[in-house]
Amino acid sequence: MPPARRNFDGFLTEMTLAEKLGQLTMASANMATTGPMPGNRWDTEVRDGTVGNLFNVWRVEETAALQRIAVEESRLGIPLLFGFDVIHGHRTIFPIPLGEAAAFDPDLWERTAAAAAEEAALDGVNMTFAPMLDVTRDPRWGRISESAGEDPFVTAVFGRAKVRGFQGEDLADPSRVAATAKHYVAYGGVNAGREYAPVDASDRTLEEVFLPPFREALADGCAAVMPAFTDLAGIPMTAHRALIEGRLRLGWRWEGVVVSDYTAIPELILHGVAADRVEAAALALNAGVDLDMMGFAYLHGLPEALDRGLVTIETIDAAVLRVLRLKERLGLFDDPYARGGPRPEAPPANLVALSREAAAQSAVLLQNDGTLPLVRPRRVAVIGPIADDPAAVLGSWSAAGERTEARSYLAGLRAALPRSEVLHAEGVSCVGEETGGIGAAVALAREADVVVLCLGETADLSGEGGSRARPGLPGRQAELLAAVAAAGRPIVTVLTAGRPLIEAAVFERSNAVLMAWGPGTAGGDAIADVITGRAEPGGRLPVTWPETVGQIPIFFGQRPTGRPPEEGNRYTARYIDGPVTPRFSFGHGLSYATFRYGPPVLSVATLAPGETLEVTVDVENTSAFAGRTTVFLFTRDVVASLARPLLELRGFRSLALEPGSATTVRFTLAADDLAFLGDDLKPVFEPGRVEILAGPAADRAVLSVVTIELEPAVAPAPSPRAASAVA
Ligand code: BGC
Repeated sequence: MPPARRNFDGFLTEMTLAEKLGQLTMASANMATTGPMPGNRWDTEVRDGTVGNLFNVWRVEETAALQRIAVEESRLGIPLLFGFDVIHGHRTIFPIPLGEAAAFDPDLWERTAAAAAEEAALDGVNMTFAPMLDVTRDPRWGRISESAGEDPFVTAVFGRAKVRGFQGEDLADPSRVAATAKHYVAYGGVNAGREYAPVDASDRTLEEVFLPPFREALADGCAAVMPAFTDLAGIPMTAHRALIEGRLRLGWRWEGVVVSDYTAIPELILHGVAADRVEAAALALNAGVDLDMMGFAYLHGLPEALDRGLVTIETIDAAVLRVLRLKERLGLFDDPYARGGPRPEAPPANLVALSREAAAQSAVLLQNDGTLPLVRPRRVAVIGPIADDPAAVLGSWSAAGERTEARSYLAGLRAALPRSEVLHAEGVSCVGEETGGIGAAVALAREADVVVLCLGETADLSGEGGSRARPGLPGRQAELLAAVAAAGRPIVTVLTAGRPLIEAAVFERSNAVLMAWGPGTAGGDAIADVITGRAEPGGRLPVTWPETVGQIPIFFGQRPTGRPPEEGNRYTARYIDGPVTPRFSFGHGLSYATFRYGPPVLSVATLAPGETLEVTVDVENTSAFAGRTTVFLFTRDVVASLARPLLELRGFRSLALEPGSATTVRFTLAADDLAFLGDDLKPVFEPGRVEILAGPAADRAVLSVVTIELEPAVAPAPSPRAASAVA
């Protein structure tokens, strides 16, 4: 039963306009920011009620002191929200979201979110600006690192697991925090992958790709939503009344809080839809945005907007009420100090262990000629700018993560190979032009049996503001790779990056390539576990890995063309100067074990509305190694009233299998799952043939296919009354 709701009418009657607008304001308290910094802790404004919520402040000494001012020294004593970007861990950092998505394990996704919530709540935080649910098919965009990749189905499952982990059963539980689904909506479609650039997506893409993950997270009770900085076909999302008020509140009947992005409300002026701060504030409020993050447009603009008749006090009150309800849901009126406690000296061992497990589960073995795992190497040369860089291991948006508590690859390998000589040379820096260190690195490589080459991006090369026009190896790393390769020793390249890196030489010159993403606090140990075979590389790509930049956007869910690509035929859907196939498909990832996948077996041959289908797939570990694999289930609607994607993901399962053992994976599909949006964007279920495909990646070459016949609904038998009326 939902807890009894307080009556906030008294508050609303008693509050001055400034106090109401204070409740609609969220100010950055400076400990970390992505925008202009105020140089202020906001004590005075919290006391006078004109700042009712803070973010970027953590640690109980800070949060409790500020909460005390709000509760004991402000006139109405309304507690503060403390927001923070707990994106992939708080103090203990887990893999970046794109990396963790590669684990294809909803249970792991939920456990890491719950652990992050617990650590953040202990630091006084009660709201996170996560999960990010922006589907994206563009590795140029830096924020692909914060996403769950290219597929709406994966993103929806990921988002639901994260919301469950952050919020638990009851938001009032002091070890949980309110989740924010962001960035609503279609931010992942920024033009040419350029940060904050305009977005123009068709209504169909919006409905089929960008909106579903939000709909599912909100249906599961996600407390808040953050509109994207971007516009959608000319309407900035911060002012998008149809999609916020119309879709979220009236359409989906969601009652949570909408928090603007950082200074996004005054940015409406630069978008060219508001003449001044007053108009900007009115547009955002009327669109349904409740909280103004760092824009101060509500506080300073809404009084005049009221005078000009641009907004009503009822709209302001409704927003205030939603903010108060969130505070109530979080239990802040019962105990504003429930969150926050003494920080342990070091990150708890169980969280570090979880970070290590998650990083190994997320690591994708892209290529391997048998060089991995390393078995008792005598001398290992660990080379490259990321080899001993704990900050890079944490990845972008590492919240309150401490680089001093993170383990570099070098540290991990030294610990994992106590009987080997583990040598180290940086060679080049990540982005610098200096090449003087390459000679020493090559000399070291010559002395070693094997080289572990740690290349890629430092944390700031992806994430917000990290768009790259040339998303390959930055700086002079390609030269380092070429020189070390010329030394002739086997090369294991460990890539650390927030995106698929487009750099052919990495794959041409390495014997093995392991994608570590930003693996997190225990990343160094986890990657050493994988390299030495103590752990399986559990990850599979949640995003298609392009071969060339020109292929972007490339993703498995593309629609067919009337002229499918045909080698040697100019007049087909191809390039004249490069391949159309990606470097690696979605789902790609090797294992130390080998597996055989049976064809999908269907429980029924035909399917009508209201019925369900069970698909089973036999999987066998055909090797002498224990190992993990992931089975994907796709469908293809071969002939429909409008072109359906070449593959649509319907299910996935990551599983561990002992050597020589086999299991059967089961998926259940409802006939409704096979409906699609017709030309009026309403769901239709069309009879006809549908392919069911199962296997280890989104590549027909490795998928087995069977077909099922969709049948029209059986006409309902006439009811007795209708029957007698006819008679
Ligand atoms: C980002 C958001 C983030 C906010 C608060 C913005 O710049 O776009 O994702 O939650 O800052 O830090």
